[in-house]
Amino acid sequence: MLTSSLPESLQWLETPAAPFNASLQTPVNQAENLVKPIKIGNLTLPNNLVLAPMAGVTDGSFRLLCSRLGAGFTVSELASARAITKKSRQTIDMVRFQGQARPYAVQLFGAEPQIMAQAAAVIEELQICDVIDLNMGCPVPKVVKTGAGSALMKTPDLAASIIKAVRQSVSLPVTIKCRIGWSEGSINVLDFVKTVLDAGAQAVTVHARTRQAGYSGTAQWQHLQGIKQLCGSIPFIANGDISSPEHLKALSDLTGCDGYMIGRGCVGKPWLFAQLLGHEFYQQREIQWKIFRHHLIDMLMEHGPAAVPLFRVHLFGYLKSHANAAKLRHALCNERNPEVVLKTGSDFFAA
Ligand SMILES: Cc1cc2nc3c(=O)[nH]c(=O)nc-3n(C[C@H](O)[C@H](O)[C@H](O)COP(=O)(O)O)c2cc1C
Repeated sequence: MLTSSLPESLQWLETPAAPFNASLQTPVNQAENLVKPIKIGNLTLPNNLVLAPMAGVTDGSFRLLCSRLGAGFTVSELASARAITKKSRQTIDMVRFQGQARPYAVQLFGAEPQIMAQAAAVIEELQICDVIDLNMGCPVPKVVKTGAGSALMKTPDLAASIIKAVRQSVSLPVTIKCRIGWSEGSINVLDFVKTVLDAGAQAVTVHARTRQAGYSGTAQWQHLQGIKQLCGSIPFIANGDISSPEHLKALSDLTGCDGYMIGRGCVGKPWLFAQLLGHEFYQQREIQWKIFRHHLIDMLMEHGPAAVPLFRVHLFGYLKSHANAAKLRHALCNERNPEVVLKTGSDFFAA
């Protein structure tokens, strides 16, 4: 492995627990003016590349890593509003991270306006985030059967009541994330967005799939057309299958969106944010290896011995292009020793 010296903006890679440094968040390539700062309420995001909330994936370490590599905004995993009102330590620890880069949103789910409002107030009081995001897109049966998540797309009046109640209880900006509809036969995103805007949503993110589609098939970007026109000056963030600079251009041309939310495209490839910002350092295997190592070490500091199983989803992402990826997945699926995982990464990135 080469050991070239790192530029100042990447020195954190050699320093576990280094403080956050925002220097990589500025676009180096203003081509087409796609990546730029945007405002949510009075809050200015340094750029419009947003790390998607992903339960079991976007813990504090991954949010920080993506911010260090250029993401302008990150969102917590969905957190139960009810659990937060009960001051559940486990739930609060999931959304509170000591080294958290700002700006940052905590995402709440629930179907009861007063509970959502109370939970938002608890979070605001903790001063751990800059935005309250409301989940209106989760497809998981446990969530939708309570009327929360994507089920709210079938009850727009309830969704509106939730937004109004939360806006009344906090001074932080309140945003929503939804899908294009409940099922392929009931795509109602335009009506739904009108409703949430009237209720006071201060930014709207839309995942271009229905609840019925889950995470399968291709995102249906065509259904994002017309949303920006409804939003006016309120930011509209497009989401679904974004993984290259060409995707930003295509989505911008098609929808006029203000921002881009990235989920699975950056799992095993957190340097995607740097790529979209126009940086080139991420192409070096040695730097990719250092990012891998930094990521695992940060997770060990965040989670202790539980980190290695939690890292697995990222590990398999990093190893996706390995010639023996399937074999390695099989060999590592029960691995708990961080040294073995580090050695696997070191061998892979040195090859
Ligand atoms: C494992 C996983 C967990 C997710 N958890 C959440 C969540 O907690 N809240 C949410 O709003 N969306 C969640 N999503 C949806 C993503 O935020 C995003 O909308 C979706 O993955 C589409 O974007 P992508 O194609 O860039 O991955 C999750 C997605 C995945 C794959």
